[in-house]
Amino acid sequence: NENVTPDNNDDVSASASAKTPALIAREVARRRTFGIISHPDAGKTTLTEKLLLFSGAIQMAGTVKARKSGRHATSDWMEIEKQRGISVASSVMQFEFRDHVVNLLDTPGHQDFSEDTYRVLTAVDSALMVIDAAKGVEAQTIKLLDVCRMRNTPIVTFMNKMDRETRDPLELLDELESVLKIQCAPVTWPIGMGKNFRGVYHLLNDTIMLFKAGEERADGAFEIIEGIDNPRLQEMFPLEMDQLRMEVELVKGASHPFDLQEFLAGVQTPVFFGSAINNFGVREILSALVDWAPAPRERDATVRAVDPKEEPFTGFVFKIQANMDPAHRDRIAFLRVCSGRFERGMKVKHLRLGREVKVSSVVTFMASTREQVEEAYAGDIIGLPNHGNMQIGDSFSEGEMLTFTGIPFFAPDFFRQVRIRNPLKIKQLHKGLQQLGEEGAVQVFKPVQGGELVLGAVGVLQFEVVASRLLNEYGVDAVFEGTSISSARWVSSDDKKALSDFEDQLGHNVAYDAAGNLAYLATSSVNLRLTQERWPKLQFHATREHS
Ligand code: G4P
Repeated sequence: NENVTPDNNDDVSASASAKTPALIAREVARRRTFGIISHPDAGKTTLTEKLLLFSGAIQMAGTVKARKSGRHATSDWMEIEKQRGISVASSVMQFEFRDHVVNLLDTPGHQDFSEDTYRVLTAVDSALMVIDAAKGVEAQTIKLLDVCRMRNTPIVTFMNKMDRETRDPLELLDELESVLKIQCAPVTWPIGMGKNFRGVYHLLNDTIMLFKAGEERADGAFEIIEGIDNPRLQEMFPLEMDQLRMEVELVKGASHPFDLQEFLAGVQTPVFFGSAINNFGVREILSALVDWAPAPRERDATVRAVDPKEEPFTGFVFKIQANMDPAHRDRIAFLRVCSGRFERGMKVKHLRLGREVKVSSVVTFMASTREQVEEAYAGDIIGLPNHGNMQIGDSFSEGEMLTFTGIPFFAPDFFRQVRIRNPLKIKQLHKGLQQLGEEGAVQVFKPVQGGELVLGAVGVLQFEVVASRLLNEYGVDAVFEGTSISSARWVSSDDKKALSDFEDQLGHNVAYDAAGNLAYLATSSVNLRLTQERWPKLQFHATREHS
């Protein structure tokens, strides 16, 4: 600030604040925020663990993985995950690598939790797609990639499990291109597979990294040999080298050379081959994310786009998780910082409620523990403890009215009515459902007339999760029963009278969701269509962004 006189008392802080834009720009530039997308069992958990191990964030292999054997693990906050061995809750991990701050957002792989996954993917700047090279593109890979494509999220691909008998690598690339409709630019190329897996050839560097099994190696220091024509290689692997040269020629001719702009536009994916369990190829993935994946970019906030380097703090909530620590009955809103600098103790405005919140207790998610956060920048995820007043999609700023877009809820496809075995637990049931509804674990509809709550889900497993969580976290033994409802639509209109007439006349099938939005619960597709025709002044929506 040039207007400050030298003897002004504010001199120090003024010059510090003059430095803030540069500081913010520097911090934003070194942030990488990504999520892993994969079909269950492709190796996401294993890879996550190796990424963390490799970055020095955790010392012992098996920490993330341990959830499957029932021990405590960082990415396992929920009992049900242990039981099922599928990642239900998404978690967030932050670590440093090569002077970059990497935020890794875990996503549930199971399709029944795709809504949660979708919302997590709105908070990332790039994605790592893990493919089981023995299986190729699987159902869930296709769906998740479609989600990434909606936002043109750049994607790095990892072909995993090369230490096993896999499918032909050329065929894998071909499948990626034809099924996922994304250009492939192989960056490494495998030499053999299964028992004869020798390593990978780096097409851009002309180096060969020799494979050695051994999952506890954290340094990833595999032997590197320069040059595909190096005589040493010929001596070591006479058979494989001829094959490799042939394949490399083919690949170079048939595939796309890596192009950073195409990658950033989400049109092309660099492809790496490796073996997560052997930590082989993990460093290359991490380097690709740091070197090529984008730092936080501009985000649409309805009235304008927000640049991550702007000084004022802004962000949005993309996920709520209750009872992460059952001992404390806490509830955390996961907020993605979109701009500015967040400091502990600062006051921010919760824009939906128009309320100022002093954020004195904020958690960040280091790989091994939850820690108090002192500061955060665009791309970082901070956890705001709250008592249920924050909702998915809520925007925060230092005062400016903004609404970050693109965090949707989908109209559920499956419906259940809830009954409890012990009527004395009705209060706990309502509290539990209200909280789980706000969390987005399930959608809860309260009909305007008639008391029975209706639950809606995108996948049926969600009901099981809710039943289990109601029991474990709220002490409610609930029974879920079928209902006559077959679809739901959110309803809006500028015509207030039409809305209230609608409520009055169709009260049994008109309900409010956990965020207080009006919805119509249809008994059949015909019923839905007729209702839409009869109420032309109302709009019926299959998705809603936020309240
Ligand atoms: P997910 O989170 O995507 O569901 O996959 P996860 O990492 O749990 O891996 C699924 C299975 O694949 C695990 O075996 C894991 O050990 C194995 N796996 C992961 N990466 C590799 C690899 O590079 N090579 C080989 N050969 N296997 C790999 P599991 O038998 O289901 O579990 P576990 O008994 O090993 O824990």
